[in-house]
Amino acid sequence: VEDAPTVEDKVYDQAYRQLQQLEKQFSQLITPDSPTQRVGGQVLNKFEKKRHAIPMLSLGDVFSKAELFEFDQRLQQQVQQAVAYNCELKIDGLAISLVYRDGLLVEGSTRGNGIIGENITNNLKTIKAIPLRLSEPVSVEVRGECYMPKAAFAKLNARQETEGGTPFANPRNAAAGSLRQLDAKVTAARELDTFIYTLIEPEQFNVTTQHEAIAFMQALGFTTNPSSEVAGDMQAIDTYIKKYTTDRDALPYGIDGIVLKVNDLALQAQLGNTVKVPRWEIAYKFPPEEAETVIHDIVWTVGRTGVVTPTAVMDPVQLAGTTVARATLHNADMIRDKDIRIGDTVMLHKAGDIIPEVSRVLVAKRPADTPPAPIPEVCPSCGQKLVHLDDEVALRCINPMCPAQVQEQLTHFASRNAMNIDGLGPKIVAQLQAKHLVKDVADLYHLTAADLAKLDKFKEKSINNLLSAINNSRQNSVERLIFGLGIRHVGGKAARILAEHFGDLDHLMTASQEAIADVPNIGPTIAEAIVTYFKAATVQKLITQLREADVNLRYTGPTKPVVKDSFVAGKTVVITGKFAELSRPALTKQLEGLGAKVTGSVSKKTDLLIAGDAAGSKLAKAQGLNVPIMNETELLANLKD
Ligand code: IVH
Repeated sequence: VEDAPTVEDKVYDQAYRQLQQLEKQFSQLITPDSPTQRVGGQVLNKFEKKRHAIPMLSLGDVFSKAELFEFDQRLQQQVQQAVAYNCELKIDGLAISLVYRDGLLVEGSTRGNGIIGENITNNLKTIKAIPLRLSEPVSVEVRGECYMPKAAFAKLNARQETEGGTPFANPRNAAAGSLRQLDAKVTAARELDTFIYTLIEPEQFNVTTQHEAIAFMQALGFTTNPSSEVAGDMQAIDTYIKKYTTDRDALPYGIDGIVLKVNDLALQAQLGNTVKVPRWEIAYKFPPEEAETVIHDIVWTVGRTGVVTPTAVMDPVQLAGTTVARATLHNADMIRDKDIRIGDTVMLHKAGDIIPEVSRVLVAKRPADTPPAPIPEVCPSCGQKLVHLDDEVALRCINPMCPAQVQEQLTHFASRNAMNIDGLGPKIVAQLQAKHLVKDVADLYHLTAADLAKLDKFKEKSINNLLSAINNSRQNSVERLIFGLGIRHVGGKAARILAEHFGDLDHLMTASQEAIADVPNIGPTIAEAIVTYFKAATVQKLITQLREADVNLRYTGPTKPVVKDSFVAGKTVVITGKFAELSRPALTKQLEGLGAKVTGSVSKKTDLLIAGDAAGSKLAKAQGLNVPIMNETELLANLKD
């Protein structure tokens, strides 16, 4: 914990081995806090849910000192006195909660959605900085940050690369991925660390300030961050922020800001919480990191709605934890306003800490005679003249037959949340277009085996798969079609609300703008877009063609939204063997309803094998690949959950 061992490693190792020997002989003497118990032997099938006794809230944040000043002013007004803050580093990791009973660690969990997290006790136990037994036999819950030190991250990514795995984008993702391992041995190998910063129910321990709470937790055996400091006014806070804005790169772990917490716990209680965040604490986020690079090219692409967008292609650079080689330039106005030219050296930052963006051009580094970046006048796909609609900034191609647009539309139509035509991705769509087999979505329903045989590498099996995927999509409930048509402003959620409300496409098509705008959660913008869309003669013709092709136009719900948190959500699952209580098709449907992708054969990509009685080769293969396996009893328990 303190990086100050009291004996040499050799002595420790010897004692550890002796302990292991003794525990093997006298298993009744193994204590839960024995150092041998850090890595449990059992591999889990899934994490249990854990309801937090006290919700784990989030943290309000500000991005400038002016906003921070305002925050402080507001608090002072509320409590009618000067406020002192405990300043802490905002560690870039994941929040965890640790529960101890009579001094022994009994449960550790993730934040989850703040109300319900996941029980990851086995994994947290492998982290040496987390004490298995406290210095006093107290019952207490503490919270803090689990993170991966920069050095461990570099080592892990180097290893991922040599072993052919995908490197993690940043230490935070690496920490998250390492904590959510069903096999604690994997977590154990990842060198995670923690800083504990919150004491739940401090009043039990005669602690009156946040600063004391940290000292108390440190005395109990937790690792706390040494940089916390009490600041009595904005000037002291400013000094703290300046110090760590400069020093952050030299720290062995990542930080993304500073957290200010009212130091006096009685004042904290007086200020209380909103539903989402405590009123007495705030995060000051560092300005986004910047990086310098050179723009080699500006490419223009046509989107589904005809908007033509420029993207800068650049020398790859490291920016706030990821490698960046492309950045959207949004539109021609932005290129002109910032005077971005091909060949320019530019500074990049991440908007909202995620999307790379050009902050400014380093004009001094511009090669002589660099011309302004050309703004296209015609569509890069179909060559038709580009226009600005109304007073839109965006350049648009308004040719409804433009191949790039049609490709995007068809791909969207086939996508998972729309008509869900598996196997119809952008590359296949492009081939279908190039061979003049489809020009709009209705044409998909007239494709024959002979047509598909003309596509690259399409043999009997792939032909049949695609034809049956297209055929199956005819039965979709109509919200998928409504979304798939790509009507402006109509996302998946609006499509479902509309389908449910109007019952079928005909009622939606003939509804007045007012009637649509009256639907709960549907606004006037959507209503106008829908009426405009269905007015077009081309659209009416398209719907007639879809109807004639036997595409279902009725709502056949209730369809549940795609489940995001279930024991199989987002997982690739294989079912094998015989089941006493469940039929295979019913089980498949139920798992799919819970967000699983059910496939037929076990591979490296399989996340879970559900094995009934008399399972054979698939079970053996899954065992060989270390794929987690679930039997019928466990499955039923999970389904009941
Ligand atoms: S206080 C109400 N103190 O930042 C929850 N959080 O952006 C606030 N974090 O969820 C907890 N360092 O995971 C607190 N010194 C610190 C922190 C810290 C990092 C994380 C924490 C929180 C997130 C909010």
